[in-house]
Amino acid sequence: MACGLKIKDEESGYNKNLFCIPKHYEEDVERVFIPHGLILDRTERLARDIMHDMGSHHVVALCVLKGGYKFFADLLDHIKVLNQNGDKSVPITVDFVRIKSYCRDSPTKKISIIGELSTLNGKNVLVVEDIIETGRTMKALLAKLRDYKPKTVKVVSLLVKRTHQSSGYRPDYVGFEIPDKFVVGYALDYNEYFRDLNHICILKEKAKEKYKI
Ligand code: HPA
Ligand code: MG
Repeated sequence: MACGLKIKDEESGYNKNLFCIPKHYEEDVERVFIPHGLILDRTERLARDIMHDMGSHHVVALCVLKGGYKFFADLLDHIKVLNQNGDKSVPITVDFVRIKSYCRDSPTKKISIIGELSTLNGKNVLVVEDIIETGRTMKALLAKLRDYKPKTVKVVSLLVKRTHQSSGYRPDYVGFEIPDKFVVGYALDYNEYFRDLNHICILKEKAKEKYKI
């Protein structure tokens, strides 16, 4: 259980004017926090580590929507390259789940899972998540997955946030460990906006007002 690429609390990210930001978000972004290229480079190595650890038995990659879709697509692209060029290759099938959570602040989090999970029976499952903050959603998802009797379950999360609200849950693979800041982009949203932004960015306070619901 590695901590991933650790980004320090005092890291402020990069001047957004040195990167390409869509015009419609230019005034909303404060800083670029993790550039898209770095996300892809780290993802390439995660793909290698995951494939190294997985047996040669069929893997079901389970994407946690919506925030996980970019990471999922890029991770699978890197795994495909390894399957094409390595000595060993593993068949991968894909499945998708959408999680709705209730009682955000309750320690016994209730979630509802939308998606077909009966296909996971007896399989090696790789859960692909965008961000783990408290870890409660993931714990609840893993508890539900167990009902469908997968052979093994591993979790990869692109981001893990260092927060005092953490339940102590740690995924098997981590892209980046980040400070307790709100980030958007690369499919992570603020009220559904900013998924269509390549870099992981920090928002301006006034953007949070602008897109508030
Ligand atoms: N950004 C977007 N979605 C999130 C975050 C975040 O920082 N933390 C938990 N969900
Ligand atoms: Mg998520």
